[in-house]
Amino acid sequence: MIPMTLLLAASGWKAEPWLDRFRRLAPALKVVTLADTYDPAEIRYAATWKPPVGLLATLPNLKAIINLGAGVDALLTDATLPDVPLARVVDPDLTSRMRDYVVLHVLYHHRRMDLVAAAQREHRWLSIDQPAPGEVRVGILGYGHLGAAAAAALAGLGFDVAGWSRSPRSEAGPIPVFSGAEGLSTFLARSDILVALLPLTPETRGILNRDLFRQLPRDGVLGGAVLINAGRGGLQVEADILAALDEGALLAASLDVFDKEPLGPESPLWSHPRIVITPHNAADSDPEALAGFVVEQVRRVDAGLPLENLVDRRLGY
Ligand SMILES: NC(=O)c1ccc[n+]([C@@H]2O[C@H](COP(=O)([O-])OP(=O)(O)OC[C@H]3O[C@@H](n4cnc5c(N)ncnc54)[C@H](OP(=O)(O)O)[C@@H]3O)[C@@H](O)[C@H]2O)c1
Repeated sequence: MIPMTLLLAASGWKAEPWLDRFRRLAPALKVVTLADTYDPAEIRYAATWKPPVGLLATLPNLKAIINLGAGVDALLTDATLPDVPLARVVDPDLTSRMRDYVVLHVLYHHRRMDLVAAAQREHRWLSIDQPAPGEVRVGILGYGHLGAAAAAALAGLGFDVAGWSRSPRSEAGPIPVFSGAEGLSTFLARSDILVALLPLTPETRGILNRDLFRQLPRDGVLGGAVLINAGRGGLQVEADILAALDEGALLAASLDVFDKEPLGPESPLWSHPRIVITPHNAADSDPEALAGFVVEQVRRVDAGLPLENLVDRRLGY
């Protein structure tokens, strides 16, 4: 009998921590990596992060793809991707890492740590205004699993938070959620700090551009608008961020993601005094936490149940 095998195809990631976790969680599950010799016909499930283009199309008996990150934009660029159910990881560990990243950077800009750190380098005692969190309006662009968790944490700290999503919310919650093109301008006009946590889709590519930055308020208590992008690099037009910083549409930015990663050493973003760069590590996928989601999806496929967190390929997320 052909074994039911899981293929782990995670480009650039160390395989051993995942294999070790799979062994502990599901000792009977056969797991192979791209470094192993395997029969393509034995692969029933694929756990992926940016697998080689065309790879999944070579697996004739594939029943499910489980993406090990929250965003499936890279996977969906593969025109040969087999038409089998595709799930993406949603997990409290990943969500809390992103929540913490957003809180860290909102507080950094709220407390003007850029100015404080610059003053320290000059041995200068700088006294700056400290607005209350309730005076700072934070807008979460992409009010999904990660956005809603970040919003709740910021609201808990007293910030004045709102969200923006594609579809309207059927019930009003404690945090106002704007939606669609019609809700965007009003949402932007009340975002002193704009946090982008959108998936990268044909609709959202390039959304963080000069026109959008010009709709952000300049009269907030921070003295200008701040951008935090931890979604995807393709959401932003990097030249427009620099132009918006120059013309005053943006006061500062924290960027975790870039059009081309790693960000090249020649990029002017690195040395801009009002940009904080982080190396796409807002929320890492930790095998210790996430392998359980994969094993559960394998169990569901074997039991004839639908995958959790199914991706809608038509929408791209
Ligand atoms: N930097 C990192 O380390 C890192 C780590 C993990 C994830 N990410 C990024 O974070 C993204 C979000 O993850 P998630 O789990 O929160 O995704 P999610 O639960 O699918 O939420 C996505 C949100 O974006 C909204 N949205 C999608 N297309 C839109 C459009 N055209 N207009 C307006 N709103 C739109 C959705 O609206 P609806 O609610 O109406 O569907 C939803 O609120 C991922 O796709 C990934 O790119 C980055």
